[in-house]
Order: sequence, then structure tokens, then C-alpha cells
Amino acid sequence: MKSINLGLIGFGTVGAGVVKILRQNEGIIERKLGAKLNLKWIADLDIERDRGVKVEKNILTKDAYVILNDPSVDIVIELIGGYEPARTFILHALKNKKHVVTANKALLAKDGIEIFETVSRNGVDIGFEASVGGGIPIIRSIKEGFPANNIQSIYGIVNGTCNYILSKMSDEGKSFHEVLKEAQALGFAEANPNFDIDGIDSAHKITILASLAFGARVDLEKVYTEGISMITPIDINFARDFGYRIKLLAITKRVGSEIEVRVHPTMVREENPISRVNGVLNAIEVTGDMVGENMLIGKGAGALPTGSAVMSDVLEISRNILNGGVNRVSPLSFLPRYIEDVKIKSIRDIVSEYYIRFSVLDKPGVLSTISGVLGNHSISIASVIQKGRGEKGGVPLVLMTHSAKEEDVQHALSEIDKLDVVFDKSVLIRVENGERV
Ligand code: HSE
Repeated sequence: MKSINLGLIGFGTVGAGVVKILRQNEGIIERKLGAKLNLKWIADLDIERDRGVKVEKNILTKDAYVILNDPSVDIVIELIGGYEPARTFILHALKNKKHVVTANKALLAKDGIEIFETVSRNGVDIGFEASVGGGIPIIRSIKEGFPANNIQSIYGIVNGTCNYILSKMSDEGKSFHEVLKEAQALGFAEANPNFDIDGIDSAHKITILASLAFGARVDLEKVYTEGISMITPIDINFARDFGYRIKLLAITKRVGSEIEVRVHPTMVREENPISRVNGVLNAIEVTGDMVGENMLIGKGAGALPTGSAVMSDVLEISRNILNGGVNRVSPLSFLPRYIEDVKIKSIRDIVSEYYIRFSVLDKPGVLSTISGVLGNHSISIASVIQKGRGEKGGVPLVLMTHSAKEEDVQHALSEIDKLDVVFDKSVLIRVENGERV
């Protein structure tokens, strides 16, 4: 039986998951591939620590270049994450005509196009299924499931940490900081959770998905990114009163000749299935002009789900090697010469519905003053709630707008926040009321 040689760089959680899958499901993999997958090397700076899987000592090395320069290694699996040295390792592997499998969303979001060009120039393959949505086969779905579609939009809950925190806040009425602490104690959030809670991890993932969906170069710097740390139980409860849930959504859609790519807390109608995806689960809804709406839900993190995605790439590339089909599908599905620069719409220019909570003094005429300012900025109110008497003699005045331009809303809010009757900064949450989301 033929064999394909693998070199794994990064023996952390996902690396150990990959080794476990290779061992536990060896039989089923061989029956599907007709070849053996031979784990020739594992490189990690720490080769002493017990990773919970058995490996022969002689395949462990501290030097990634042992793998990168070994002519017998067919596929390099990069699972160290982060920008450097991952970038250098991947480019070195590609130049040495090795195929690459990576879960590295931060690197691909920033330098994906350069890396994909290097892949094509060297006549090798790259797989990055594990970079978005953990075990959910979202990359392969867009590339190979919907290739004859014009993708119209993607809405995703692509960060399990944020979804866990928002779900817990919603179920138990606890504050953001309280739930974050619990999540860290349970190991659901990193000790330094900023990439997750500030929306940066989601921005990396939606940048990759937007490139795939639209065959576009997407500049990560232009992706509007807002995290969840300002969300309070008050807003979660008002959202519920209006029939919504608050989710951190990563959104990309085509609007005329431009695309929107943005990450922010979003109010989603409770009838929408995505609003009921709770805990650490991820969900991604892709809408194509021919296929309509498709939603994929599953585990967005963890050793085995993410390892499963890594292995799907390893098998696909192995099949390509065995059948002479390398480069069968381009990294972004679109042929490299057709990858375009597409204008990303500024957040100021988007049109959305909005939830706005004002903290106002409880006295006659306040609502009419505020609605007057909104009216002057062409913002039309859809509904209003004011209930309870708040602290400091003030009350929350909450309203939902009809569709409005973000720039107009921001101008109106800065004017309103300066009024004497307003005693705190207004809270704004965008509302998505598309066909489904
Ligand atoms: N940190 C990510 C999350 C998982 O919380 O979903 C890895 O992409």
C-alpha cells in the first residue's frame, strides 16, 4: 500500500487531536484513501509534555526545519497559529514543493492572498478548512458545494467563546465580566481572551470567508470590528421584549458593486434559527443566488472537531497526490487570475435598522426632543419602550428604528448625547432583519 508522509508542526490541543484521529480512525482512513498516512515527524518547542496521545519518541523534534527540509515529507500540517514563525514555515514548505494544511486564521486573514499565490506558483495544494468554524465544513461547502452560485451573503456565529458568554448572560441574567470569569475558570475562554471578546478572531474568520465567497482581496484593516464587552443584561432583556436575541455576528454581503464585511453584536429575530444557536456552538448561514439559504451548525473549536477539519484537508490533498489531481481546486475556488480588489463599504455607509437605548431624565417632553433630533437626521422610529424608573432619577428610553444610514444615526446620537436631559452615553446595537437573519 502506498503511503503519504505527514509532518506536523505544533503539538498543542489541535495537534494532539490530529494525532488521535490518525491513530483511532486509521482503518477507516485507509479504506477511503487506499493508502497509509504516515506521521513522519512532529515538531514542537516542548517535546517532553504529555499530550494525552502515544507517539514514538524518535518522531519528535524541536526543529521545524527537520520537517520543512525533509524531501520525503509530502504534507506539512501547521498548527502553531499566530503570525510568525508560522508564516515563514508555510512559505518555506511551499517553496520546497510541500503541500500545506493549516488552521491559521490570523495569518490567512492578513496574508492569505500572498500565500495562495505562492501555492499556485509552486504547483502544490493548501487546505485551511480548520481556520473557520472548527469542525464545520464551511470552506469546502463554499468552494465545492456552491461553486455555481453567486454568493449573496454569509452570516456567522464564528466565535464559541463569545457565543457562550452571550448565551449565559441571556439565560442567567449575569453581567459580561461575571460570565467571562466563569468561562475562563471552565477553560472556555483563554486567559487572555481579547482576540475573542473584542471580535478580532471573528474578523479574521469573516475576512477568509468573504475572500472565498466573492473571489476578492479583502483588507482586514477595513473590516469594522466591535466586540461584546459593552453588552449588558439590560440590553439583552430589552432585546427579548422586542422579540430578538443578541449575537456576535460576522457578516459579509454583496451590496451593488461593493461588499460589506463587519463584526458586531447584532439583534437577530428569535424566529431565526441562528438566534437559537447557543453555548460554544458556531453557526454559519450562506445564501447563494441559486441554492438559497443554507445553515451549518457545529462545534467551532476543540481538539477533535478542529482535528477533523484538518484531517479532511489531509485526505483531500492525499487523494489529489495519489490521483495526479493537485491544484484540482484553486485555494479560493476562483482561479488566481480572477481574484479581484473589491471595495469594502465603510460602516458609515451601511443601511441597517437600529436598537438605541438612551439614558434620560424622566420628565415630560424628553421623548419628543429625542424623536425631533432623529427626525432631523431622517431616522424613522419603528417602536419605543420606556419602563421602570432607573437609577439617578433617570430611565432607559429604548427604541427601534426603521432602516437608516449609519452615518445619520451616529450624527443624531452625538447630538442627543449632548442634551441636558441625557445623562449617559447612548447604546446602539445593529439589527439584522434580512430574509432570514
Ligand atoms: N477561540 C475560538 C472560539 C476558537 O472561541 O471560537 C478557535 O477559532
